[in-house]
Amino acid sequence: MINPLRGMKDLTFEDSERFIYTITTAIDIAKKYGYSYIETPILEETSLFRRSVGESSDIVGKEMYQFEDKGGNDVCMRPEGTAGIVRAFVSAKLDRQPVKQKFYYYGAMFRYERPQKGRLREFHQFGCESFGEASVYEDFTIITMISQIFNALGINFNLQINSLGCNTCMPPYKQDLIGFLRETQEELCEDCNRRIVTNPIRVLDCKNSSCQLLLKDSPKLINNLCEICESDFKKLISLLDDANMKHEVDTNLVRGLDYYNKTAFEFISNKIGSQSAIAGGGRYDKLVEFLDGKPTPAVGFAIGIERIMELVQMPKVQRDGIYLGAMAEEAMEILFPIATAKRLEQKVTLEYNTKGFKSHMKGADKVYAKYCALIGEDELKNGTIWVKDLESKEEKAVLLEKF
Ligand code: HAM
Repeated sequence: MINPLRGMKDLTFEDSERFIYTITTAIDIAKKYGYSYIETPILEETSLFRRSVGESSDIVGKEMYQFEDKGGNDVCMRPEGTAGIVRAFVSAKLDRQPVKQKFYYYGAMFRYERPQKGRLREFHQFGCESFGEASVYEDFTIITMISQIFNALGINFNLQINSLGCNTCMPPYKQDLIGFLRETQEELCEDCNRRIVTNPIRVLDCKNSSCQLLLKDSPKLINNLCEICESDFKKLISLLDDANMKHEVDTNLVRGLDYYNKTAFEFISNKIGSQSAIAGGGRYDKLVEFLDGKPTPAVGFAIGIERIMELVQMPKVQRDGIYLGAMAEEAMEILFPIATAKRLEQKVTLEYNTKGFKSHMKGADKVYAKYCALIGEDELKNGTIWVKDLESKEEKAVLLEKF
């Protein structure tokens, strides 16, 4: 027997129903905010992710599904959606149009991580990317939209936000931070020591508790933002306050991808164990330019579908459609065209085998049909079909031409 690869899953029945329900709920809401669907390839040139997600990130450094294809190209299965969408945006020259573009997407992402609860090697994201809008109102709108999606799915969350500054305030802060880290270097873990050189900001979200203790006294970017970043961040906080949206400013929230500036946020659930981030995102105003497009501000997010699946509150399943069955051989010839016609409007389950009454009733219940309609000898004689409403239990014989 061949099983799925480690960290990858088949989705069936209840799980696949939940998956579709989650995605369609998110799509309905994204459309109301003006987002249209974008589909980009799963496979991209590896350089796309190196340049955008960043050489020093764990994703690029350790987790890429990267290989040489038969034509000798260095390719990679996408570890996330944003890079491919920015590439598509630039490829289609949308950066040269004055129109603001908003895209939603969903699909499989691949990261070669150590599989554990909430951490898969193939997982799915639903995400949105908004291009051309520099206003902090757009950051707020996106956060509002994610909250609305989680509310619609019945999911509780905590919102953590931070500002990662811009090209004016980040570089001097980085120098300050490096100075601080060099002084505490010997007590920091091996990973942090590596990051002091490759990406000092990432030291701030080290999961090691002894490092976190040392970092309590580190300089905070939030106290060193330039005037514009500070005023935007304050505005975002006040918009969240005015909307009564609970949030926590986490000065150590830096995100694991290198393209962010200004607003960064994560939605956290305390019901799913240690991999608790259910969505993440923020601003990435330099990425379009970085991938050879015209400077275009942008902001977006992605929700991890597998992480929220068990939290999703599904609406009660309703009995649905019609079950058709024959209790006499010749009845199938009548039932078949009926099934085809009825399928234009509703779900139809047609049982091909001639069976007894009880067996058909069981079959109708198994597929959770609303109606069970059967033809036996009597019905054949009378030109009728026996129909039972499985909710109200009402039953009657209906003339075939009226059915
Ligand atoms: P990310 O934080 O890397 O951001 O991923 C977003 C979400 O995907 C996470 O919060 C988590 O729920 C889920 N996720 C990540 N890795 C795994 C995994 N191995 N197994 C299961 N779920 C996982 C991004 O990917 C950015 N592209 C988000 C974004 C869009 N930023 C701006 N626009």
